[in-house]
Amino acid sequence: DWNMADFINEELRTIKAKVGSDRVISGLSGGVDSAVASAMVHKAIGDQLTCIFVDHGLLRKGEAEQVKRTFAEEFNMSLVYVDARERFLKKLAGVKEPEEKRKIIGSEFIRVFEEEAAKLGDARYLVQGTLYSDVIESGGSDSAATIKSHHNVGGLPEDIEFELIEPLRDLFKDEVRKIGEVLGLPDDIVWRQPFPGPGLAIRIIGTVEEEKLEILREADAIIQEEIKEAGLYKEIWQSFAVLPEIRSVGVMGDERTYGYPIVFRAVTSDDAMTADWARLPYELMERIANRIVNEVKSINRVVYDITSKPPGTIEWE
Ligand code: XMP
Repeated sequence: DWNMADFINEELRTIKAKVGSDRVISGLSGGVDSAVASAMVHKAIGDQLTCIFVDHGLLRKGEAEQVKRTFAEEFNMSLVYVDARERFLKKLAGVKEPEEKRKIIGSEFIRVFEEEAAKLGDARYLVQGTLYSDVIESGGSDSAATIKSHHNVGGLPEDIEFELIEPLRDLFKDEVRKIGEVLGLPDDIVWRQPFPGPGLAIRIIGTVEEEKLEILREADAIIQEEIKEAGLYKEIWQSFAVLPEIRSVGVMGDERTYGYPIVFRAVTSDDAMTADWARLPYELMERIANRIVNEVKSINRVVYDITSKPPGTIEWE
């Protein structure tokens, strides 16, 4: 019989005993795992914890602000916000190949994080939001890794000189969410759909530029809003927009348009290994398509991806 309050209290005691009076750092990504792990450690040791949030500019609309608001303002945690947006865009300039994008983002992320950690100087421990499923995956053979490198930007290299604190190591995702709720984290973080470490960069087919990021962020925000409004956010595994590198002809008023399409993708899944395209209500799809075409500049068409995994992958890159 798994008692959550007992588990949390026990875990807080363990963290306190381990850390003593040493300093701890933690990387926040915007996702639920790093959020819950950090909030838990903060509850145990307060200001001995410093969180580092690297904004690589590839997050969705409002996500960076939400991380700052939640952790710095509401939770009063010591948070270092690193605006690395320019830096990542420069590194990604001209890069089209998906795996190349992942490698660049992954290694740049580690570089930025290490620089910031070095500035803090005296930390001995690093918090990681490792779950039970991650422990199993990295122990077993991960055939998916050969298809996509799956660089998780929350992850750090093994040779880093910190000792790890992994408060979620024995937990499943649903348990992590429950703890997040108990700790008072906002629904938007606790129930956030999975989001890839390389973020929007792998949802822009071709080169990543600020203008395209803005378009994608706006289209994606409409999808998130409408899916939530329809009450489907939790039962859909992931729902998002992709911006392909093509243009097509349309008509608006009596003007010919020549714009980008948005690919709307929504899938159901248990573990991302397989996925089925979501049978969404037509009315919802229509509302999303109308809003995107009307509200997002440069977009004149919306298509829905009806490919399941396999043979498709969830992401387009
Ligand atoms: P695919 O596209 O391979 O994605 O069906 C399976 C799941 O993994 C996520 N994904 C990633 N997550 N770094 C991540 O942290 C990545 O490079 C990456 N690529 C895909 C994807 O969103 C889905 O949940």
